[in-house]
Amino acid sequence: MTASCAQSGRQRVCVLGSTGSIGKSTLDVIARNPDQYTVHSLVAGRNADVMLEQARQFRPQYIVMADEQAANKLRADLQSEGLRIAVESGQDAMNQVAADGDVDVVMAAIVGAAGLPPTMAAVRAGKKILLANKETLVMTGALFMDAVKASGSVLLPIDSEHNAIFQCLPADHLRGLERVGVRRILLTASGGPFRQSPVESFAAVTPEQACAHPNWSMGRKISVDSATMMNKGLEFIEACWLFDARPEQVEVVIHPQSIIHSMVDYEDGSVLAQMGNPDMRTPIAHALAWPGRIPSGVAPLSLTEIARLDFYAPDMMRYRCLKLAQDVARSGGTAAAMLNAANEIAVDAFLERKLRFDRIPEVINATLQTLPVMSAGDIDQVLEADREARYLARKQVSQMQGVA
Ligand SMILES: NC(=O)c1ccc[n+]([C@@H]2O[C@H](COP(=O)([O-])OP(=O)(O)OC[C@H]3O[C@@H](n4cnc5c(N)ncnc54)[C@H](OP(=O)(O)O)[C@@H]3O)[C@@H](O)[C@H]2O)c1
Repeated sequence: MTASCAQSGRQRVCVLGSTGSIGKSTLDVIARNPDQYTVHSLVAGRNADVMLEQARQFRPQYIVMADEQAANKLRADLQSEGLRIAVESGQDAMNQVAADGDVDVVMAAIVGAAGLPPTMAAVRAGKKILLANKETLVMTGALFMDAVKASGSVLLPIDSEHNAIFQCLPADHLRGLERVGVRRILLTASGGPFRQSPVESFAAVTPEQACAHPNWSMGRKISVDSATMMNKGLEFIEACWLFDARPEQVEVVIHPQSIIHSMVDYEDGSVLAQMGNPDMRTPIAHALAWPGRIPSGVAPLSLTEIARLDFYAPDMMRYRCLKLAQDVARSGGTAAAMLNAANEIAVDAFLERKLRFDRIPEVINATLQTLPVMSAGDIDQVLEADREARYLARKQVSQMQGVA
């Protein structure tokens, strides 16, 4: 199989987080372009049923599940159907498959800090990385970008905003934004489902309401992040690293229709925007095929049907998580890893109905106020900051439980 794929010139893709929203969209784009891509391996957490369906359709060489029981169930199911696919479980197997010599492209779409080890393994192995898992870059910042440079990896952003910015920037933008005439990056945000709700109503927001995004269909964690606008905060930090931008060069603009995915403002007054229907298959197809183009299955944009596009400045009293992230972008070191870890704990607690929606920024703020910011000299220091922040954030959550 390996030899025939290499001979046919198809790119061999490893999908980290294949059972999730981005993972499924990635497989959809691959299925539309079978002459150009083949699935080498699929990696996920515990959803053995969805993985079985994906295994039947894409026949990867390897599957890795984080959860051992899920891997055992899948192995038995595959065997009973006569499908000969190697199934492993655990972190080491994930790292190995992401760095496998037969892999050309790695879609990094595991949610949260759990995506860090396999994504880093893929970077160190010099793979072409399609980065959806923004938390990895937010946590490790300069360490991640240095590893990309050292290995010669090609790094392409999947977040629709960063993919849009990438498409609007000149190819040599890493010479420096000012040198290529860029004045500002305009990072658009839908404003989430509570853009117009009274701030006083945030205390009663349920997980179902927070996960009902007006424009995008996404996993639960990023949906809550979009509702608090921590997602935009993480994207703000991500943009600084990806495009070597200072925080003051990135401006967040609320654009409720999510048609313009972000813009670049040049010193001659030109503003370049990338537009499209809100469907993640567009940035996925763009990154898979870059510098070419392939069909994605996304419907053509009808501007006459959309008719109007609105823009507002964000209200920082409403979006306290965005403010916290922007402050962290200015402080550097381990602060971003701590912010990300405290946010993951707070969002999990909210989804499990153990924390009120309006307390998410309080948990993060209290964690950041308590822990000292250290320099992020290596991955171990980042992981230590992540662990400490998780411990403290969990304490904050239990202290806030039962407090009216
Ligand atoms: N969805 C979007 O539109 C969108 C847009 C831009 C960026 N992103 C980013 O893309 C990433 C994925 O988002 P999503 O919306 O696709 O999330 P999702 O639907 O919740 O999917 C998450 C994926 O990660 C897997 N996973 C969770 N924990 C794991 C672990 N410990 N080890 C291995 N795999 C694990 C899940 O597997 P199981 O379900 O099998 O447990 C699932 O395949 C996030 O970083 C998000 O910020 C998403």
